[in-house]
Amino acid sequence: MPFLDACRSQKSTRVPVWYMRQAGRYQPEYREIRKNYSLLEICERPELCAQVTSLPVAQLGVDAAILFSDIMVPVGPMGVNFEIVEGRGPVVEHPLRTRQDVDALHGFDVHEALPHVLETIERVKDTVAVPLIGFAGAPFTLASYMIEGGPSRDYLHTKAMMYGEPDVFANLMEKLSEMVIYYLRAQITAGADAVQVFDSWAGSLSPKDYETHILPHMQRIFHALSEEEAPSIYFGVGTGELLPQFKTLKANVIGVDWRVSIRAARERVSQAHAIQGNLDPALLLAPFDVLKARAAEILTEGMEKPGFIFNLGHGVFPTASMDTLRRLTEFVHEFSEARLTSS
Ligand code: CP3
Repeated sequence: MPFLDACRSQKSTRVPVWYMRQAGRYQPEYREIRKNYSLLEICERPELCAQVTSLPVAQLGVDAAILFSDIMVPVGPMGVNFEIVEGRGPVVEHPLRTRQDVDALHGFDVHEALPHVLETIERVKDTVAVPLIGFAGAPFTLASYMIEGGPSRDYLHTKAMMYGEPDVFANLMEKLSEMVIYYLRAQITAGADAVQVFDSWAGSLSPKDYETHILPHMQRIFHALSEEEAPSIYFGVGTGELLPQFKTLKANVIGVDWRVSIRAARERVSQAHAIQGNLDPALLLAPFDVLKARAAEILTEGMEKPGFIFNLGHGVFPTASMDTLRRLTEFVHEFSEARLTSS
């Protein structure tokens, strides 16, 4: 399996490829389903959710499926009410601002609270031939939605709590870390072949603040996950300057965006880490020749060592074209097979 081999930094005959947000509004079939069901309603219907998860594998020929869900899904059963607002993202009813708000968060039994997530994984495993990636949001990125109350540009409330009430913030990070470990283990037991932890907004932190307030929690999470057979991936946006901090993380793969080159990313993380990334999704709108040339550059650097997974630097956006993604997938496979099987 090229995807799992690459996660473990083992040689394979081609560079595996999948796309963050490969299931979503750029697909006519997804838009059709969304006419009748909200995002969370899809997640609650295992048969439908498994279908949405599988669709991009059949349509694009990617090397992995990713569970269709949202990072906010497990936050609900901790006691936080939220909605996913079209075109905006998660919006929380009562943002967490005080010690009492954080103290009130509680654990849950995933089999009781989120049985549909586990059933979706089981169904996908029965029908899809490629590995399935489970996922969770990282504590900082989840906390940013829970504290701000919605998407944010500057994370002022989140940082105010981190600086002003570091023990309250640490308590929140601890509760979320415990949830992430528990939730991802349950996904692996249900059949997930790999897990990705999305720390999308960690890049808003200075290396020093990351080291003090976030790193110990991420160390704990990836230490726990390293005991599982399934490899783990850690992804964030704008993390170029944080990569040296990731050296000590026992994740198998570090995912990066386009603001750092694959070669530079490799030099900054541990020798043991595989790399995933990092095409700017905006290039999906460029003429195909331009897109291809950029993909070739990324692949050339990626193939300098075993342990590379081709992906975008962030998610597919709604106006992307399915045909472009299909041709890109084909190009990644052909370009890498030609080089990896001739040497
Ligand atoms: O195909 C896949 O990648 C799996 C599905 C997936 C979704 N959300 C479905 C979704 C995954 C992996 C996520 C993770 C997620 N959710 C992250 C981390 C990844 C990242 O993009 O940084 C974050 C930050 C969220 C929070 C969130 N949920 C945002 C910012 C938005 C976008 C708002 C918008 O409308 O553009 C959502 C909504 C969401 N989650 C959509 C999808 C397909 C789009 C809205 C919809 O279909 O209604």
